[in-house]
Amino acid sequence: MSGRDGTEWRKPVIVGEDVKPFMKEEHIYPPEYEGHFDGVMITCAEIHERIQQLATLIHTDYKGIRPVLVCTLKGASPFYIHLSDALKEIRQGFDMEFVRASSYEGTATSGQVEFVGELKMNSLQGRHILLIEDIVDTGTTLSALIPMLQQQGNPAGVEVCSLLDKRLEVKKYEAKYVGFSIPNKFVIGYGLDYEELYRDLKDIFVISQLGISFDASTLHK
Ligand code: IMP
Repeated sequence: MSGRDGTEWRKPVIVGEDVKPFMKEEHIYPPEYEGHFDGVMITCAEIHERIQQLATLIHTDYKGIRPVLVCTLKGASPFYIHLSDALKEIRQGFDMEFVRASSYEGTATSGQVEFVGELKMNSLQGRHILLIEDIVDTGTTLSALIPMLQQQGNPAGVEVCSLLDKRLEVKKYEAKYVGFSIPNKFVIGYGLDYEELYRDLKDIFVISQLGISFDASTLHK
Protein backbone atom coordinates (compact mmCIF):
# COMPACT_ATOMS: atom_id res chain seq x y z
CA MET A 1 0.00 0.00 0.00
CA SER A 2 1.21 3.48 -0.59
CA GLY A 3 1.76 3.71 3.15
CA ARG A 4 0.64 0.17 4.12
CA ASP A 5 -2.07 1.66 6.35
CA GLY A 6 -3.70 2.81 3.10
CA THR A 7 -3.94 6.50 4.02
CA GLU A 8 -3.13 7.53 0.44
CA TRP A 9 -5.52 5.00 -1.03
CA ARG A 10 -8.41 6.27 1.12
CA LYS A 11 -8.49 9.44 -0.94
CA PRO A 12 -10.08 9.18 -4.38
CA VAL A 13 -7.86 9.54 -7.42
CA ILE A 14 -8.57 13.03 -8.73
CA VAL A 15 -9.32 13.20 -12.46
CA GLY A 16 -8.60 16.74 -13.70
CA GLU A 17 -11.04 19.05 -15.46
CA ASP A 18 -9.18 18.73 -18.79
CA VAL A 19 -10.32 15.49 -20.32
CA LYS A 20 -7.72 13.50 -22.32
CA PRO A 21 -8.38 13.56 -26.08
CA PHE A 22 -9.81 10.38 -27.56
CA MET A 23 -7.25 8.48 -29.66
CA LYS A 24 -9.02 5.88 -31.73
CA GLU A 25 -6.11 3.41 -31.88
CA GLU A 26 -5.72 3.28 -28.07
CA HIS A 27 -9.17 1.86 -27.31
CA ILE A 28 -11.26 -1.20 -28.10
CA TYR A 29 -14.97 -0.53 -28.72
CA PRO A 30 -17.78 -1.72 -30.98
CA PRO A 31 -17.66 -0.04 -34.42
CA GLU A 32 -21.21 1.29 -34.06
CA TYR A 33 -19.89 3.76 -31.43
CA GLU A 34 -17.56 5.53 -33.87
CA GLY A 35 -17.64 9.28 -33.16
CA HIS A 36 -19.61 8.91 -29.93
CA PHE A 37 -16.77 9.92 -27.57
CA ASP A 38 -15.46 13.40 -26.85
CA GLY A 39 -12.62 12.33 -24.59
CA VAL A 40 -11.26 9.67 -22.26
CA MET A 41 -12.07 10.00 -18.58
CA ILE A 42 -10.53 6.77 -17.17
CA THR A 43 -8.97 3.76 -18.90
CA CYS A 44 -9.69 0.15 -17.93
CA ALA A 45 -6.05 -0.23 -16.76
CA GLU A 46 -6.52 2.70 -14.37
CA ILE A 47 -9.82 1.22 -13.14
CA HIS A 48 -8.27 -2.18 -12.46
CA GLU A 49 -5.32 -0.69 -10.58
CA ARG A 50 -7.67 1.35 -8.39
CA ILE A 51 -9.91 -1.67 -7.74
CA GLN A 52 -6.95 -3.54 -6.21
CA GLN A 53 -6.42 -0.64 -3.81
CA LEU A 54 -10.11 -0.44 -2.88
CA ALA A 55 -10.23 -4.20 -2.26
CA THR A 56 -7.22 -3.94 0.06
CA LEU A 57 -8.86 -1.09 2.01
CA ILE A 58 -12.13 -3.02 2.33
CA HIS A 59 -10.25 -6.11 3.52
CA THR A 60 -8.42 -4.01 6.14
CA ASP A 61 -11.66 -2.43 7.39
CA TYR A 62 -13.74 -5.63 7.39
CA LYS A 63 -11.28 -7.77 9.29
CA GLY A 64 -13.25 -10.65 10.81
CA ILE A 65 -16.47 -9.39 9.21
CA ARG A 66 -18.26 -10.92 6.25
CA PRO A 67 -20.04 -8.00 4.54
CA VAL A 68 -23.05 -8.26 2.21
CA LEU A 69 -21.99 -6.67 -1.07
CA VAL A 70 -25.11 -5.13 -2.59
CA CYS A 71 -24.75 -4.32 -6.28
CA THR A 72 -26.87 -1.46 -7.60
CA LEU A 73 -27.91 -2.60 -11.05
CA LYS A 74 -27.29 -2.17 -13.83
CA GLY A 75 -24.50 0.41 -13.88
CA ALA A 76 -22.35 -0.97 -11.06
CA SER A 77 -22.21 -4.53 -12.42
CA PRO A 78 -18.73 -4.45 -14.09
CA PHE A 79 -17.28 -2.72 -11.03
CA TYR A 80 -19.01 -5.27 -8.77
CA ILE A 81 -17.58 -8.20 -10.73
CA HIS A 82 -14.02 -6.88 -10.78
CA LEU A 83 -14.11 -5.72 -7.15
CA SER A 84 -15.47 -9.05 -5.95
CA ASP A 85 -12.75 -10.86 -7.96
CA ALA A 86 -10.12 -8.71 -6.22
CA LEU A 87 -11.67 -9.50 -2.82
CA LYS A 88 -11.63 -13.23 -3.59
CA GLU A 89 -7.91 -13.04 -4.44
CA ILE A 90 -7.16 -11.66 -0.96
CA ARG A 91 -9.49 -14.18 0.72
CA GLN A 92 -12.09 -11.64 1.87
CA GLY A 93 -15.42 -13.46 2.22
CA PHE A 94 -18.72 -11.74 1.37
CA ASP A 95 -22.33 -12.43 0.48
CA MET A 96 -23.94 -11.13 -2.71
CA GLU A 97 -27.19 -9.23 -3.18
CA PHE A 98 -28.59 -7.06 -5.96
CA VAL A 99 -30.90 -4.07 -6.09
CA ARG A 100 -32.07 -1.99 -9.01
CA ALA A 101 -32.43 1.77 -8.58
CA SER A 102 -33.18 4.28 -11.28
CA SER A 103 -33.27 8.08 -11.13
CA TYR A 104 -31.95 9.16 -14.54
CA GLU A 105 -33.75 10.37 -17.63
CA GLY A 106 -31.26 11.01 -20.44
CA THR A 107 -28.34 13.03 -18.99
CA ALA A 108 -30.28 14.58 -16.08
CA THR A 109 -31.34 13.13 -12.77
CA SER A 110 -35.14 13.02 -12.42
CA GLY A 111 -35.02 13.41 -8.64
CA GLN A 112 -37.45 10.48 -8.35
CA VAL A 113 -35.81 7.23 -7.30
CA GLU A 114 -37.44 3.91 -8.07
CA PHE A 115 -36.40 0.54 -6.66
CA VAL A 116 -37.08 -2.74 -8.31
CA GLY A 117 -35.58 -6.07 -7.41
CA GLU A 118 -35.34 -9.17 -5.40
CA LEU A 119 -33.45 -7.96 -2.36
CA LYS A 120 -34.59 -10.02 0.63
CA MET A 121 -34.66 -7.64 3.55
CA ASN A 122 -34.59 -10.38 6.18
CA SER A 123 -31.18 -11.48 4.87
CA LEU A 124 -29.74 -8.10 5.93
CA GLN A 125 -30.70 -8.26 9.62
CA GLY A 126 -27.61 -7.48 11.75
CA ARG A 127 -25.29 -7.61 8.73
CA HIS A 128 -22.70 -5.11 7.46
CA ILE A 129 -23.88 -3.90 4.06
CA LEU A 130 -21.43 -2.56 1.52
CA LEU A 131 -23.37 -0.96 -1.31
CA ILE A 132 -21.47 -1.04 -4.59
CA GLU A 133 -22.27 1.94 -6.81
CA ASP A 134 -21.06 3.04 -10.23
CA ILE A 135 -21.28 6.78 -9.61
CA VAL A 136 -22.45 9.23 -7.00
CA ASP A 137 -23.74 12.29 -8.82
CA THR A 138 -26.19 14.39 -6.78
CA GLY A 139 -26.43 11.63 -4.14
CA THR A 140 -30.23 11.42 -4.61
CA THR A 141 -30.22 7.66 -5.22
CA LEU A 142 -28.18 6.86 -2.13
CA SER A 143 -30.02 9.28 0.11
CA ALA A 144 -33.19 7.31 -0.75
CA LEU A 145 -31.70 3.81 -0.84
CA ILE A 146 -29.75 3.90 2.43
CA PRO A 147 -32.68 4.86 4.74
CA MET A 148 -34.79 2.22 2.99
CA LEU A 149 -32.15 -0.45 3.68
CA GLN A 150 -31.75 0.73 7.27
CA GLN A 151 -35.48 0.76 8.01
CA GLN A 152 -36.52 -2.38 6.20
CA GLY A 153 -33.38 -4.51 6.59
CA ASN A 154 -32.22 -3.51 10.09
CA PRO A 155 -28.53 -4.09 9.24
CA ALA A 156 -25.59 -3.50 11.61
CA GLY A 157 -24.25 -0.85 9.21
CA VAL A 158 -24.40 0.48 5.66
CA GLU A 159 -21.35 1.83 3.82
CA VAL A 160 -20.90 2.72 0.18
CA CYS A 161 -18.12 1.96 -2.27
CA SER A 162 -18.52 3.96 -5.48
CA LEU A 163 -16.22 3.77 -8.47
CA LEU A 164 -16.84 7.41 -9.36
CA ASP A 165 -17.85 10.56 -7.54
CA LYS A 166 -18.78 13.69 -9.51
CA ARG A 167 -17.42 16.94 -8.14
CA LEU A 168 -20.56 18.95 -7.42
CA GLU A 169 -20.88 21.80 -4.92
CA VAL A 170 -23.94 20.32 -3.24
CA LYS A 171 -24.12 16.59 -2.57
CA LYS A 172 -26.74 14.68 -0.67
CA TYR A 173 -24.41 11.78 0.10
CA GLU A 174 -20.64 11.11 0.30
CA ALA A 175 -19.44 7.52 -0.12
CA LYS A 176 -16.86 6.07 2.26
CA TYR A 177 -14.83 4.37 -0.50
CA VAL A 178 -14.44 6.26 -3.79
CA GLY A 179 -12.38 5.17 -6.77
CA PHE A 180 -12.13 8.41 -8.72
CA SER A 181 -13.31 11.98 -8.21
CA ILE A 182 -14.34 13.23 -11.66
CA PRO A 183 -15.38 16.56 -13.16
CA ASN A 184 -19.06 17.32 -13.67
CA LYS A 185 -19.41 15.76 -17.14
CA PHE A 186 -21.70 13.01 -18.37
CA VAL A 187 -19.66 9.81 -18.68
CA ILE A 188 -20.35 6.48 -20.36
CA GLY A 189 -18.79 3.03 -20.41
CA TYR A 190 -17.80 0.34 -17.91
CA GLY A 191 -21.47 -0.16 -17.01
CA LEU A 192 -22.46 3.50 -17.25
CA ASP A 193 -25.08 4.15 -19.91
CA TYR A 194 -26.81 6.85 -21.87
CA GLU A 195 -30.31 5.63 -22.75
CA GLU A 196 -29.13 2.01 -22.18
CA LEU A 197 -26.20 2.24 -24.62
CA TYR A 198 -22.45 2.17 -23.89
CA ARG A 199 -22.50 -0.19 -20.90
CA ASP A 200 -20.41 -2.56 -23.04
CA LEU A 201 -17.30 -0.36 -23.13
CA LYS A 202 -14.09 -1.28 -21.32
CA ASP A 203 -13.05 2.32 -20.61
CA ILE A 204 -14.93 5.38 -19.35
CA PHE A 205 -15.46 8.17 -21.88
CA VAL A 206 -17.15 11.55 -22.12
CA ILE A 207 -20.10 11.30 -24.48
CA SER A 208 -20.08 13.41 -27.67
CA GLN A 209 -23.02 15.26 -29.23
CA LEU A 210 -23.29 12.49 -31.82
CA GLY A 211 -23.48 9.96 -28.99
CA ILE A 212 -26.31 11.91 -27.35
CA SER A 213 -28.32 12.32 -30.53
CA PHE A 214 -27.74 8.74 -31.77
CA ASP A 215 -30.88 6.67 -32.42
CA ALA A 216 -30.27 3.38 -30.58
CA SER A 217 -33.20 1.68 -32.32
CA THR A 218 -31.06 1.47 -35.50
CA LEU A 219 -28.91 -1.15 -33.68
CA HIS A 220 -31.78 -3.47 -32.76
CA LYS A 221 -31.67 -5.68 -35.80
P1 IMP B 1 -27.52 10.49 -8.24
O1 IMP B 1 -28.76 9.90 -7.64
O2 IMP B 1 -27.74 11.87 -8.78
O3 IMP B 1 -26.33 10.41 -7.32
O4 IMP B 1 -27.20 9.63 -9.53
C1 IMP B 1 -26.80 8.31 -9.42
C2 IMP B 1 -27.16 7.50 -10.65
O5 IMP B 1 -27.35 8.32 -11.81
C3 IMP B 1 -26.03 6.57 -10.98
O6 IMP B 1 -26.16 5.34 -10.30
C4 IMP B 1 -26.12 6.46 -12.48
O7 IMP B 1 -26.99 5.41 -12.84
C5 IMP B 1 -26.71 7.77 -12.94
N1 IMP B 1 -25.65 8.74 -13.40
C6 IMP B 1 -25.23 9.85 -12.79
N2 IMP B 1 -24.28 10.48 -13.51
C7 IMP B 1 -24.08 9.72 -14.61
C8 IMP B 1 -23.18 9.82 -15.73
O8 IMP B 1 -22.35 10.74 -15.87
N3 IMP B 1 -23.28 8.83 -16.65
C9 IMP B 1 -24.15 7.79 -16.55
N4 IMP B 1 -24.99 7.65 -15.51
C10 IMP B 1 -24.97 8.61 -14.54
